[in-house]
Amino acid sequence: MPIISTSKLTKRYGQLAAVSNLTLSIEEGEIFGLLGPNGAGKTTTLSMLATLRSPTSGSAKVNGYDISKQRNEVRQSIGMVFQGTSTDDLLTARENLEIHAMLYSVPSDIRKKRIDELLALVELTDRANDLVKHFSGGMKQRLQIVRGLLHHPRVLFLDEPTLGLDPQTRAHVWKYIERVAKEEKITVILTTHYMEEAESLCNRIAIIDHGKIAVLDTPTNLKKKVGSDMVKFVSNNADAKKIKSLKFVRKIEQKGDSYLIKLDEVSKNLASLLKSAGNVSSVEVRPVNLSDVFIHYTGHEMRDEEEGGGWQGWER
Ligand SMILES: Nc1ncnc2c1ncn2[C@@H]1O[C@H](COP(=O)(O)OP(=O)(O)OP(=O)(O)O)[C@@H](O)[C@H]1O
Ligand SMILES: [Mg+2]
Repeated sequence: MPIISTSKLTKRYGQLAAVSNLTLSIEEGEIFGLLGPNGAGKTTTLSMLATLRSPTSGSAKVNGYDISKQRNEVRQSIGMVFQGTSTDDLLTARENLEIHAMLYSVPSDIRKKRIDELLALVELTDRANDLVKHFSGGMKQRLQIVRGLLHHPRVLFLDEPTLGLDPQTRAHVWKYIERVAKEEKITVILTTHYMEEAESLCNRIAIIDHGKIAVLDTPTNLKKKVGSDMVKFVSNNADAKKIKSLKFVRKIEQKGDSYLIKLDEVSKNLASLLKSAGNVSSVEVRPVNLSDVFIHYTGHEMRDEEEGGGWQGWER
């Protein structure tokens, strides 16, 4: 049985459908990503599942409880880290966790053990008694993530868990999210607009745009569906006809001596392609990525840039 299921979940603000007829189910133990640009409806979706906002129509269940009729039970089942929530800078890491444990009525006899366990999980034991104001962005984020876990929730909601962090720190936080999911045996639903984040962390991804799911699958399957890797090379005597006839080649574009080839499985087929490419003076390879998937299913870039695909798509 799925741990989260939604049926035609909808949230309207006046004329705007921030989330529109969202139907999905998430299995226990998944790290599930909602990937979409600013304003896509990611936070609104999480907020409804976390019972912070009421749906306009449709329904959803979290851990078997109805988000409209059993709010308290839902809240006991979940941990959440939302945009704008923060830890108290003037307290130590441990004090922050202690206050939260009291808020969630974690029994006092197990409180200390649980806090120690969670601090260790995100490698903050040595910093437990330091003021949070001296923490780096990544450390604060790790502290927030485990703060949401004090009461042993079954599901953890993370809204943009690495927003504003540098790429290196972001990858570091991913490691902790994976660890937390595994060791606490919880289901994680996160939102992001970072493609790499969704790709590296999530078992499945729903790409959402304008409040609707454009497509939902594993990162690998998503890329397979769109499926064209690209190779760009320069050659003054390529055999374009031969290249076109290769069974793994999907498309060939030519500008003077430059060729752009869309093909399946570049790692397997590059050598045979280059056999027909003549005197190649330069070659570049660009495997398909989630950005291509996004464009394919939504018709536009993740960020409001120019139309992708072809030569322009290469530049991303
Ligand atoms: N309280 C509100 N009143 C009116 N409109 C709202 C409200 N909250 C959200 N919206 C609108 O709903 C849409 C979805 O917003 P939401 O915050 O869910 O997007 P998001 O995908 O989380 O974006 P971001 O990446 O910027 O966090 C946006 O168009 C937003 O302006
Ligand atoms: Mg948001």
